[in-house]
Amino acid sequence: MCGIIGYIGNKQAYPILIDGLKRLEYRGYDSSGVAILNENKKTSIYKSKGKVSELEKYTSDKDVCGKIGMGHTRWATHGEPNDINAHPHQSANGYFTLIHNGIIENYSNLKKRLENRDYVFKSETDTEILANLIEYIYIKGKVSAEMAVRLALTKVVGAYALVISCKNEPEQLIVAKNSSPLIIGIGQEEYFIASDASPIVQYTQSVIYLNDKDIAIIKRDEFSYKTIKNDILSPKIEKLNLGIGAVEKQGYDHFMLKEIFEQPSSILDTFRGRIAADFSKIYLGGLLDVMPKLIKTKRIIIIACGTSWHAGLVGEYLLEEFTRIPVEVEYASEFRYRNPIIYKDDIVIAISQSGETADTLSAIKLAKDKGATVLGICNVVGSSIARETDAGVYTHAGPEIGVASTKAFTAQVTILTMMSAMIGKEKNIITEDKYKKLILELISIPDKIKKILLLNERFKKIAAMYKDANNFLYLGRGYFFPVALEGALKLKEISYIHAEGYPAAEMKHGPIALIDKKMPVVVIATKDKSYEKIVSNIQEVKARKGIVIAIVTEGDKTIKEIADHVLEIPKAEASLVSLLAVIPLQLLSYHIAVMRGCNIDQPRNLAKSVTVE
Ligand code: M6R
Repeated sequence: MCGIIGYIGNKQAYPILIDGLKRLEYRGYDSSGVAILNENKKTSIYKSKGKVSELEKYTSDKDVCGKIGMGHTRWATHGEPNDINAHPHQSANGYFTLIHNGIIENYSNLKKRLENRDYVFKSETDTEILANLIEYIYIKGKVSAEMAVRLALTKVVGAYALVISCKNEPEQLIVAKNSSPLIIGIGQEEYFIASDASPIVQYTQSVIYLNDKDIAIIKRDEFSYKTIKNDILSPKIEKLNLGIGAVEKQGYDHFMLKEIFEQPSSILDTFRGRIAADFSKIYLGGLLDVMPKLIKTKRIIIIACGTSWHAGLVGEYLLEEFTRIPVEVEYASEFRYRNPIIYKDDIVIAISQSGETADTLSAIKLAKDKGATVLGICNVVGSSIARETDAGVYTHAGPEIGVASTKAFTAQVTILTMMSAMIGKEKNIITEDKYKKLILELISIPDKIKKILLLNERFKKIAAMYKDANNFLYLGRGYFFPVALEGALKLKEISYIHAEGYPAAEMKHGPIALIDKKMPVVVIATKDKSYEKIVSNIQEVKARKGIVIAIVTEGDKTIKEIADHVLEIPKAEASLVSLLAVIPLQLLSYHIAVMRGCNIDQPRNLAKSVTVE
């Protein structure tokens, strides 16, 4: 889960690489580096521990001229973050320079074989081994750089997105991909290579999404595309349809804040073209072919990680309520390693913002091998998961750059709601009336979120009161249990405060022991069928002197009397309230983290897409 960028063309490469690295920094930010080929065909490599700004400082007095280059921002897997382990890496005799996102799983075997041939390694990375393997094949086999790369890749087990240059064939870049994302942007006699579209969108809208085990050999005026087995392919050129604004902060202090405030419009984008103009029908085109299977299936399994897993839990409640199909929600990483029972008529739904999460991708492959039909709910168009699944639906929430997921969650829940309503209607589980009411309720959600966002200053005041707490507890029942989990995750990952999400009724089976006058307890306590019970849970917290911050339905008077703070959200159909209740929790975490001086968009130890298992 690193970010990679490459450029070949007639412009100076360095500014393009640095700007690209800053846009990709959310993918990894413990060290970075660039390699630039200068006019004399000499490659200069500069690397620096820390963020891209450190690299910029380090290169400020260096010669960075040249029109071909590559850059990398790292999230360490093999070897600690330092200048030596940072990319680009060069082979021992300097023939090959490369950057890599992914993991070479059989690196240890490859390393031993190379050590037996007197290769010595400077870094602790798997990437340096690959650079030397390519070089070894190149020298020994007396083959072209392209062929050496292809032959080396046939010996590699693992994930890679690579940009490679060869000192003897300097006017080209070789790129290859397997299970890690890679996009090539096509300009006027210039090409941009990147992990995602964010560094490319300002230069071109024409892109090629590389497929697994494909390789491209790129010169300024020539482009060839083939498999690593040398079968020639014709690349599919696609349009990005993405404005530069989508990948900039546009006046917000952080991407996370921008993304929280974008939710009214990102949910509208999720609806776009999928709800009839008279609000009578939901139309998810990606599901039409699999609808007969969805109607017949006896079981749905949802697989995901992190926030997407929380959305999956909301999906479980939605699907079971509206379709009466039993649903299981699994952490992709657990599912993958426990030899799960999967039937051929099972439907597996994989949820992922990035579409690149390695655990989810592996779980999909396992489910497919066992014959299940796998659907995807992804945000990133053309991502590995979107390609690997049999069918699916994009969330169309727009690029999410803050590491803490916000608008992706509400978009995923929106799709799961639409999906549940569509299947429920097809199965005649929900009536025409209920279906139409649900659609009307759903389309009112963006305006209700706008109302909640107007309370931002109030969330900020509460954040200021509890920013120094050491622990937080989040409680919710039914649809709000996943929201409690999500609230706790948001706080943990960006403010580094320990937080736990719990089903409210389970509190008395253990966590109640934690409650004292220092413990803020955030309770999602809107009016639904468990309202009376949640009021009792609040009483239980207050009886032990805990501090209650309650998310309540507008106009609630009962809880106002007991809780320390109430945050009101508009009334909505119970199954949709999770889309509203999560907003105050996102903003509370955001403000607490800002007040604690944390790095909001790039929290420590994390990366946006986790492409390692
Ligand atoms: O891209 P994905 O949705 O597959 O990512 C899954 C998790 O890595 C992600 O949700 C992570 O938990 C976020 N940092 C949560 O904010």
